[in-house]
Amino acid sequence: MIEKINETVRFIQSFCPEIPRIAMVFGSGISSEALLDQVFARLPYNKIPHFAISTVKNHKGELVIGERAGKTLLLFSGRLHYYEGYSAKEITYPVRILKDLGVEQLILTNAAGGVNPDFNAGDIMQISDHINLFPDHPLRGKNDERLGPRFPDMLHAYNPEFLVQMETLSTTLDIPLRKGVYLASQGPSLETPAEYTMMRFMGADAVGMSTVLETIVAVHSGIKVNGFSVISNECFPIERIVETSEQDVVDMVKKSEDRLMQLVAAWLDNYCP
Ligand code: HPA
Repeated sequence: MIEKINETVRFIQSFCPEIPRIAMVFGSGISSEALLDQVFARLPYNKIPHFAISTVKNHKGELVIGERAGKTLLLFSGRLHYYEGYSAKEITYPVRILKDLGVEQLILTNAAGGVNPDFNAGDIMQISDHINLFPDHPLRGKNDERLGPRFPDMLHAYNPEFLVQMETLSTTLDIPLRKGVYLASQGPSLETPAEYTMMRFMGADAVGMSTVLETIVAVHSGIKVNGFSVISNECFPIERIVETSEQDVVDMVKKSEDRLMQLVAAWLDNYCP
């Protein structure tokens, strides 16, 4: 594993003029371009040593290396999902390499169904905590202490400082921002009305098919992590549910993309290490 990581890290480093302190992962239909002043490289995942390839239509699958206000950023445009058939370890490999690249803060984004009855489609939610219902775990198996501890603590999985900073920015910029618990189920089917109801009563505010495995590996690696869900469909109570296609999710996310990018850009400009 360590040799594999070294090889991937050396390859990516050759495109970075400076150490990238921030990495971001963009979910369904969310594009990164607005954040960058300059692009240094676009690396399709199939050109990066040891990366698996995204098979989903709205997930491009490329690493964009660029710069904003002189800071080098790694933007993963498109992610791997468990439902594509990959293991939890394979999906999280792009996060596993970040520590050695010098990344200190990871920002994850996704589209999610809203099960908090106060949430509306188009809302942006900061993830304050998560519930992991994946049937696989990225840390299952022998632990290599050089990568992280056997039993990583998850009390503050989502960097509390960042959560506060974002609340401040939401007020300053007058861009509404929700906060809540993201529950991950394996997909690829959306949930039945009964399942959404169960998830609400389990304590979820939003439901999706990604993010939590990446969070776990970031915590294990000692990288700060935060995430945003764009609420693409309303799921609780059951009278609010409407039939939802992949295109509906992408179309709804597109409407919120601008606001999300304004918040992230403001964080990069005001708080980024
Ligand atoms: N369930 C799971 N994943 C999702 C949903 C949903 O309702 N909406 C967008 N991603």
